[in-house]
Amino acid sequence: MWSPGTFLLLLLPTVLAFKPSDFKTCSQSGFCRRGRALAERSQELSSWHSPYSIEPPELSPHQPGFTTNVHSSVYPNVKFVLDVIIHEEGIVRVRMDEENGLRKRYNEATQWALIGEPLLSDDVLWTVDSKKAKAVYGSKKDMELVVDFNPLKITLFRGGVEQVVLNGRGLLHMEHFRTKEDSKLAEHIEGEGQSVLQVNSAAWFEGDTQDAFWDETFSTWTDTKPKGPESLSLDITFPNHAHVYGIPQHATNLSLPSTTGPTARYTDPFRLYNADVFEYLADSPTSLYGSIPLMHAHSATSTVAVFNAIASETWIDITHVEKGGVETHWISESGILDVFLLPGPTPADVFTQYAHLTGTAPLPAHWSLGYHQCRWNYVSSDDVRGVQDRFDEDDFPVDVFWLDIEYAEDHKYFMWNKKTFPDPVEMTKDVEAVERKMVIIVDPHLKRSNDYPVYKRASELEVLVKPKSGEGEYEGWCWPGSSSWIDFFHPGSWDFWISLFKTDTIDSQWSWTESTNNVGIWNDMNEPSVFNGPEITMPKDNIHYGGWEHRDVHNINGMLFANHTFQAAEARTDPPRRPFVLTRAFYAGSQRFGAMWTGDNLGTWEHMAVGIKMVLANGVGGMPFAGSDVGGFFGNPEPEMLVRWYVVGAFSPFFRAHAHIDTKRREPYLLEEPYKSLVRDILRLRYSMLPVWYTAFRETSESGVPILRPQYVMFPEDDAGFGIDDQFYVGSSGLLVKPVTEKGVKEVSVYIAEDQVYYDYFTNQPHRPKNRQITLPANLDQIPLLIRGGSIIPTRERPRRSSPLMKHDPFTLRIALDTSGNARGEVYLDDGETYGYGKGDVVWRGFGAESTKRKGKGIGAVRISSVDLAVRTQVGAYDPKNEFARSVGDVRVEKLVVLGLEKKPLSVGLEGGSELEWEFASKDGAGVLVIKDPAVRVVDDWAVVVKLE
Ligand code: NOJ
Repeated sequence: MWSPGTFLLLLLPTVLAFKPSDFKTCSQSGFCRRGRALAERSQELSSWHSPYSIEPPELSPHQPGFTTNVHSSVYPNVKFVLDVIIHEEGIVRVRMDEENGLRKRYNEATQWALIGEPLLSDDVLWTVDSKKAKAVYGSKKDMELVVDFNPLKITLFRGGVEQVVLNGRGLLHMEHFRTKEDSKLAEHIEGEGQSVLQVNSAAWFEGDTQDAFWDETFSTWTDTKPKGPESLSLDITFPNHAHVYGIPQHATNLSLPSTTGPTARYTDPFRLYNADVFEYLADSPTSLYGSIPLMHAHSATSTVAVFNAIASETWIDITHVEKGGVETHWISESGILDVFLLPGPTPADVFTQYAHLTGTAPLPAHWSLGYHQCRWNYVSSDDVRGVQDRFDEDDFPVDVFWLDIEYAEDHKYFMWNKKTFPDPVEMTKDVEAVERKMVIIVDPHLKRSNDYPVYKRASELEVLVKPKSGEGEYEGWCWPGSSSWIDFFHPGSWDFWISLFKTDTIDSQWSWTESTNNVGIWNDMNEPSVFNGPEITMPKDNIHYGGWEHRDVHNINGMLFANHTFQAAEARTDPPRRPFVLTRAFYAGSQRFGAMWTGDNLGTWEHMAVGIKMVLANGVGGMPFAGSDVGGFFGNPEPEMLVRWYVVGAFSPFFRAHAHIDTKRREPYLLEEPYKSLVRDILRLRYSMLPVWYTAFRETSESGVPILRPQYVMFPEDDAGFGIDDQFYVGSSGLLVKPVTEKGVKEVSVYIAEDQVYYDYFTNQPHRPKNRQITLPANLDQIPLLIRGGSIIPTRERPRRSSPLMKHDPFTLRIALDTSGNARGEVYLDDGETYGYGKGDVVWRGFGAESTKRKGKGIGAVRISSVDLAVRTQVGAYDPKNEFARSVGDVRVEKLVVLGLEKKPLSVGLEGGSELEWEFASKDGAGVLVIKDPAVRVVDDWAVVVKLE
């Protein structure tokens, strides 16, 4: 049936554009207004100090931390309690909650974000005097945590230097639960003549009116706020760091600009409130689809980070202060205070500390690093087959074809529109026949229809999100029209969700039999997006499992959807295989459940450029498997832009082209020459570099250090690089790329932080930086891609149709000697699908080039070798002759390319073996030695010796 609503929905994709009026500014959000007003009042009054103090804790010297009572001189009768704990690796956790309050504040964010309870430190020495408690810890005993009692202030020092200060500006404020009546009394007293500006009065502290305490109207929606005010304000200062990074997701610079003070770039604070923002702006602090409340602070001598584990809407003001340092002010709507200080001291340490809290991105299925072709929509099975044929006819490699929402009958996910997709399994198998995969969308909204078994069953199980009454089912509008949402906080939904993804009916009557175990899942609209809801999402007074309001859990909600989809996809087979899930909404910890993309970008140069910064910021936030829609979701990019965007995609961890339903088809085979061949070359380049990407994923899955590495991560001591976010290194491979994101560019300048030789990836030409810059030609057929001297890059250069077909292909090693004639690199391989790597089914090789130098005479010989890294690090029950290693036992290294030799070798041979065939060419002092077929296998130890004298 067509209702006016259906009509509106059909129009939505075309008529909706970013309307600032759809989303709140700080001044339209009651608690943000109150928080900012507090900061302003504190600045106006020089005598201002925090009203919070703590009782001196009782504590024995070696305890990891303490719990004590907090008093507020503003509210002497309200009880608060503070926990300060030092964990392993020197991570400090500070928690504050209201005690025996009228209600309970939400305290479960860490239950979803963390991988477990962090371990307590056993290496702390506390001393307490009448004014403060002080803990000294760390292997060098250079870490100090000082907790001042009155006013309450918490400072982390390293080597006597302040790193992070909590409540140093006195903006800590936890609004306590109260009844409307109690708060009226306060109003009444004020009405009787109390001065609004009286220091320490509640009125001074919380504002002289009850600003949006009990309800709040935005546009046509009223948030009823049955619990009243419960917001939370905290200032976090980094007095000795000039740059802060992180808090994705925002379309802004990697080094976060100020939102207050004379250098403010924006008037609003950065906002974290997962939101579906149509046609978002390319430079803005507004919320986008995901929220990770993790901020790095960085200087040439130190990196620290703060993880503020809060799930409610949060606004963050940032001020780069003139005397140095960065002040931040975090204002959240509800929840307890639960802040982790990560002590660094390097970016790599901070990444690992955060990974130990929230986990890392697991090693993804290898195919998911290939190229993904998506569009809203491939409209039928035959359309999918036709697109695949065209890719093959024109020799474009591709691993994955995607289906957007139109595959589903009336947008009832899991159910195929049989008119257009009469044979879904056959279609999927046709794609899988050439070792490709399909990814199919499953959104979180369920059409409220009795002919939709998924909705009906969820309704019977009573696992749907409830409206504010706490009774029945919340109803909102999304693609299918009238919809409800599974409450993934409800344990009763979990087995049901798993049962939906089974592909046989052996143990589930709900199985998705019209699917295969290889299918990846796309979780979209999980902020959640609700077309007729406030700010295009759910009302905050909706009720979730446990009686929590949506406001308490909003930013976690989308992560739970991806979490349960990941588990469901994994449970399809026994033993499990690595699932692929793409999510739009995310939170701290989402990295454990798959990839993300930056949502509905526009086909503009600005969006192309900011997409790189956003992917870098997501890496900082611990979520490295990220990318943006190649070509831009909205619009019809001109061929030049599309070619440049393919380069951006080829150097993103997640590489997918996608387009809105109203755009013209733009699959690469549709391009005219020369663009078509350029895109083919870019795709082939990505495929040739899959060993680099997969090896980088292995590293990040262990260490948490991101795949795309900005300058401050690579060169933490080089001040001049801290603001750079338009070039990056790929893992620790030594590849440095600067994608072109402007029209008509012919040349780019790449920033180099070190006095090292870098080689052009394509021409092998060595470059030494001049004034820290290397200038490279960057015409449309050129990619500014450098190999850092000292690196060895493994590639596979046979063009194939999809990545699994490369399994037996030989390797090329590009050996880029550094200024001392040395280099190192590695390659990691496994079956790419199972968890066999956990029990040692891997091949992990370390490559090295070592030069022997003769006094004053330059390099005498170079020894290039391959060693087993797995045996050194003992992966699982590793055996060099493991099943996987045997399966790739025939894989050769077919070519060694040595860059940086100054002169022609005298001989090249296998160590202890035969002479090899080689060629040496030298142009302008740049020597390139190509050793053809060194007759070695990738699984073996070997060495090749190049003699120059
Ligand atoms: C919004 C997503 O961001 C977009 O990628 C998708 O194509 C549409 N929803 C339709 O599912």
